[in-house]
Amino acid sequence: MIKKITLSLAVAALAITAKAQDYTPLKQIIGDDFYIGVAINPNQVSGNEDTKTILHNFTTITAENAMKPAGIIQADGSYNFTDADKIVNFAKENGLKMRGHTLCWHASIPRNYMKNADGTDLTKEELYAKHEKYIKAVFEHFPSDVVIYWDVVNEALNDGENEGRYRERSEWYRICGPEFISWAFKTARKYAPANVKLYYNDYNLVDPVKREKCYLMLKELVDSGVPIDGVGMQAHWSMDVTPAQIEESINRFASLGLDVQITEFDLTVYNSIHPPKASERQIVKYTLPYDVVEKAQADAYASYFKVLHENRDKISSVTFWNVNDASSWLGRGFAIRGRLDYPLLFDRENKPKAPFFSIENYYKSLK
Ligand code: XIL
Repeated sequence: MIKKITLSLAVAALAITAKAQDYTPLKQIIGDDFYIGVAINPNQVSGNEDTKTILHNFTTITAENAMKPAGIIQADGSYNFTDADKIVNFAKENGLKMRGHTLCWHASIPRNYMKNADGTDLTKEELYAKHEKYIKAVFEHFPSDVVIYWDVVNEALNDGENEGRYRERSEWYRICGPEFISWAFKTARKYAPANVKLYYNDYNLVDPVKREKCYLMLKELVDSGVPIDGVGMQAHWSMDVTPAQIEESINRFASLGLDVQITEFDLTVYNSIHPPKASERQIVKYTLPYDVVEKAQADAYASYFKVLHENRDKISSVTFWNVNDASSWLGRGFAIRGRLDYPLLFDRENKPKAPFFSIENYYKSLK
């Protein structure tokens, strides 16, 4: 009797699993347009439902946090690759490629990394020497047949029209000035195996003001022979982003001979992931029921994939920022504590959502 119950439970569990993945894999839908990727954390490689969704749908992965300096550099300055290796080994075992993220960023770096014991800043030379050691260790550690792309510099630009081009409040900028960007690419190239491609990565690159700042920075890097291969458009978008805006950015960056990647794709159902002003916080604080926004989100995702497909000759990979609405950083209270968001293609049970099927329908319409 007990045996029988256990058996039928096992069958039921199998049925649920099969049901959850009883759909055409995303990687099959998009064919060889580009690598299709997802950001993950070490808990998602243990064989759970998230693992199954990753393996069913994606061809590349990014460590959401484990390969950032703060994920590797310990308080005592030593390096610990344990979490990163869980993800890299998973990729290797399953034949997935990876984007390394990220080498130089003002955030996700240990507090006081750029300071002396007395709290004063390191000099530029000291910081370069310290971080060159880190960059060297990273490239020596990770297998270059798995981690084939790296975000070398992340978010070095300011957003606004009335601000300077660079984010002056970044510690990198404060200590080194804008030259840290070319320093980082040259240093990465010095240690990165020849097949590994190097990227500048940032958000809001579909905004005309920031697009132009980024274009000018990239043009200066390319013109002065700095070894950069491409640009990562993070793509934390809201539904007011238009396909035309996206296309303009892709073309502008590609005109420099650079590869373009979509590196952190998600689509909030709210106006913005950041409530613009404190006074507006109350207005955006509520959680929308998903059925109200489902159709709009599905249409938006399909229109974005249309533009990505049509520009696939300029794009080598498109990566979602985590697997499902439960694991998304937006669902974990980044923007507003307690507010649910539904930014991805899979719901909290890993079932494909309306935007998944609208992308599938778009691709079917091409046949
Ligand atoms: C985010 C992660 O998703 C969060 O878990 C973490 O707490 C903060 O960083 N731009 C980037 C990513 O380049 O590294 C950020 O990831 C999201 C914004």
